[in-house]
Amino acid sequence: MDFEVIGSYIKGLYEEKEKLNRQKFIRKTKLKDFIPVVDDDVARMLKLLVAITKPKNILEIGTSIGFSAASMAETIKDYGGKITTIEYDEKVAAQAKQNFINTGVAECIEIKIGDAREIVPELDVEYDLIFQDVDKNLYPALFKDCLRILRKGGILVAEDTLFPVLDLDPKWHSLIPPIKEFNDMVINCKQLDSTIVPIGDGFTIAFKR
Ligand SMILES: C[S@@+](CC[C@H](N)C(=O)[O-])C[C@H]1O[C@@H](n2cnc3c(N)ncnc32)[C@H](O)[C@@H]1O
Repeated sequence: MDFEVIGSYIKGLYEEKEKLNRQKFIRKTKLKDFIPVVDDDVARMLKLLVAITKPKNILEIGTSIGFSAASMAETIKDYGGKITTIEYDEKVAAQAKQNFINTGVAECIEIKIGDAREIVPELDVEYDLIFQDVDKNLYPALFKDCLRILRKGGILVAEDTLFPVLDLDPKWHSLIPPIKEFNDMVINCKQLDSTIVPIGDGFTIAFKR
């Protein structure tokens, strides 16, 4: 299968219909210096997972300018869910907050500003869905806590999990070992059923039994 051809076909089908589109979202964002956000196909998958499973309590680790959180919030605001999202860059978090206001979803998203390495181990509420999209070096270190705070029947999703097989710029090669370690942790975890979907840079979906 030629994933590039498939990807552009799918993009062409959905591009015009999308309410929140990545390109438009970035264009309307004043701040220009931020870590890239998920592709439209990943945002669509997140929205679908949310629509199907109706999580009341979502945790996102890694906010950036808020595209993925705003995408999920479009769906959760229909049934009264809540998203908590973690970002340690104050300028980026302020822009995300503004973007949540601009897209009309601010009331269902709380931004925790700080280091995920400190915040996640302190969390003691259960989440129905956790989206891991922070610094890739932290995926293995945060895995145990993600599993602890994910309720039984909940879903753990993670972006960039196909880094080990993608043709990455050498400057990102140091991120391959932690992703390999994370993938092993997910696959060997007896509490999780999972797969990796080849969208974005690899999208893990794991269900906690
Ligand atoms: C890939 S971006 C998130 C993109 C976002 N999920 C989206 O698609 O709209 C990762 C974000 O994690 C933040 N980050 C990196 N290390 C962090 C840490 N230790 N604690 C909190 N945030 C961190 C970065 O500043 C960056 O904005």
